Amino acid sequence: MRGTAPPPPRAEIARLPSYVPGTPAAPRPGRPGYKLSSNESPFALPRQMVEAMAAACVEANRYPPSGRELALRLATRYGLPTDEVAVAGGSLELLRDLLLAYGGPGAEVVYGWRSYEAYPILAGSCGALPVPVPLVDQRIDLAGLARAISPITRVVLLADPNNPTGTALDPEEVAAFARQLPATCLLVLDQAYSEFGEPEAAARALELRSDLGNLVVMRTFSKAFALAGMRVGWCTAHPDVVGSLEAVALPFTLTAPAQAGAIAALDLEGELRLRAQRLVSERQRLTAGLRQLGLEVPPSHANFVWLPLGEGSSEFAAVCSRAGVSVRCFTGEGVRVTVGLLEENQAVLEAAAAYVKEAVSG
Ligand SMILES: Cc1ncc(COP(=O)(O)O)c(C=O)c1O
Repeated sequence: MRGTAPPPPRAEIARLPSYVPGTPAAPRPGRPGYKLSSNESPFALPRQMVEAMAAACVEANRYPPSGRELALRLATRYGLPTDEVAVAGGSLELLRDLLLAYGGPGAEVVYGWRSYEAYPILAGSCGALPVPVPLVDQRIDLAGLARAISPITRVVLLADPNNPTGTALDPEEVAAFARQLPATCLLVLDQAYSEFGEPEAAARALELRSDLGNLVVMRTFSKAFALAGMRVGWCTAHPDVVGSLEAVALPFTLTAPAQAGAIAALDLEGELRLRAQRLVSERQRLTAGLRQLGLEVPPSHANFVWLPLGEGSSEFAAVCSRAGVSVRCFTGEGVRVTVGLLEENQAVLEAAAAYVKEAVSG
């Protein structure tokens, strides 16, 4: 017995898709399972980062300090005015806050689809109407997005590189797109994976930001900076947008250990970027190996690759799972595989070869 029934939630809550986190991988005899389902960093954390976070735990009886120290560090690092930087407990939180501030009930939120699966959940939970626009050739279709803009569109979410396809947009096309948006519409350029793409594209996004008041550039410490478990995200935006973010932000979500870990990561940026480059090399090797097996792999600019296998997706994921590798399956569409260390990618290539063999013989 659970007592009397509770009141119903808002009607749209029941319609929200659920967020499916990446599953862990089962170990095989003599080796661990390889979790390649969440686009995490495969490297052990640098000792300095662990020590900085551990030291900050000593004061866990206190509420954390504001994120100002980290915001100042980021402003200096990227040459940004300090009132144009916001930090939070993960870029997901910043996305939610932007949607709360700009895209509530009565608003439409436009995004390419398939893209980051949190977009429809966040838009819907803030009371806005999600407007997905199909990808064309695995890429976000800017012309299609432009056609989907209506008088009530308040936010456009653009994952660049896109998750899960890994494809990237030309920064000049993004600039042209941003310039023709109505004055009532904010463009969020979600660059969670920018450290694995072209450095020029990442730098150009920040330049564009300083020209365009309707543009928000979002980054995270979860991927190349290896802090997925600590939750640190940041964005740069016009000071008025930063002010709106501050107005709706929950206090204290950026914990002291998370902030300390992020500052330590900035101190070690060179080393962490080298690690990202190692993953880029591995991505190239993995992509070439998969293509040699006859599989289609769109060019990825992120720390994962996308296999648009359609109906074969579940079978591919099952073959990987039997090999002790967890991947991210979007049933009927494709499979996203995070780039790991050499032996992890080798296990993927072996599983892919087994899948191709089965498909040919079966
Ligand atoms: C495109 C994109 N944006 C944002 C996020 C969330 O990042 P964070 O860990 O900073 O919340 C992810 C995480 O996978 C992502 O793929």
